[in-house]
Amino acid sequence: MLHPRTVERLVTGTATSDGAGVKLTRILHGALQKRLDPFLMLDAFGSDDPDDYIAGFPDHPHRGFETVTYMIAGRMKHRDSAGHEGLLENGGVQWMTAGRGVIHSEIPQQEDGVMEGFQLWLNLPGRDKMQAPWYRDFSAGDLPRFVEAGVKAIVIAGESHGVAGAVAREATAPVYLDLHFDAGARFAQALPPGHNAFVYVYRGEVTIAGRDVPAGRMAILANDAGADGVVLDAKAAAKALLVAGRPLGEPIAQYGPFVMNTDEEIRQAVSDYREGRSRPRAFRTRGPARSRPAGRETRRGPGRAPGRRGARRRLPRGSPRRGSRRHGGGRGLSGPVFSPCPRR
Ligand code: CO
Repeated sequence: MLHPRTVERLVTGTATSDGAGVKLTRILHGALQKRLDPFLMLDAFGSDDPDDYIAGFPDHPHRGFETVTYMIAGRMKHRDSAGHEGLLENGGVQWMTAGRGVIHSEIPQQEDGVMEGFQLWLNLPGRDKMQAPWYRDFSAGDLPRFVEAGVKAIVIAGESHGVAGAVAREATAPVYLDLHFDAGARFAQALPPGHNAFVYVYRGEVTIAGRDVPAGRMAILANDAGADGVVLDAKAAAKALLVAGRPLGEPIAQYGPFVMNTDEEIRQAVSDYREGRSRPRAFRTRGPARSRPAGRETRRGPGRAPGRRGARRRLPRGSPRRGSRRHGGGRGLSGPVFSPCPRR
């Protein structure tokens, strides 16, 4: 890199819970959606206490964007209203394009041990928000990777050092890398200056343009004019996600797990979900009966039952607000969509 990017600022995630009481850290939250357009959210979950994750994320809808779930450790089963199902295991990625709508569940398939991973939300351009849902599971072995100068790079999306990632998207041109550094290793990634980018360190520490970024911090990279990429150095062994994409520059209207361009489209999404109008088979108020494994009901956290009961609740009066508050307080990822909004 001739002109590497600098760090604009460091962000500390917020501890929260979502779904049926899954404890997680929300790293990229609503207040950063504009700054990090086209990315809407990044959650990190990681625990060796089954009570923190065992209830998972029972049936919940999404519309208007893509979710990318990257499992570092543990096993998670997912099923959706279009009849897809799969098992996400150590090192695997599920890429789901919600498009006009899916209802899915994400349920841990283990009762002990460590569960760790990330879920990233990537926005869709307005013209693609109502496309047919799509998803694919990539096992660890399916994900392109390379080792160079002491760094192992797993290329989930985009391109790095001539290696094409598992997924490419034209509108948002996402780059999603998992980088494992040996002590003393350096990694450079080319990035267009206009693309928004961040690094989340989840083990050890990396240094970017002289700024130390410890584990548990997200470094937002400055969009310096003329910068041609980013350089990461690790004095000791470290692991980090590098994420970048082309901003859409469109209005973001979000209500929980629906992300559209306008409030009217949000009302439509809520209405479609409530009435099960969407086709094919998306947004039925309930997923297939088989998506409710025995025993899970008893593990649910208090007051967190989504699904039919939640679906009858009404949208609060007035337009859905945008921004962080809508997203915070344990809502957003896959929580009880229609539960009363935080009235803060
Ligand atoms: Co979900």
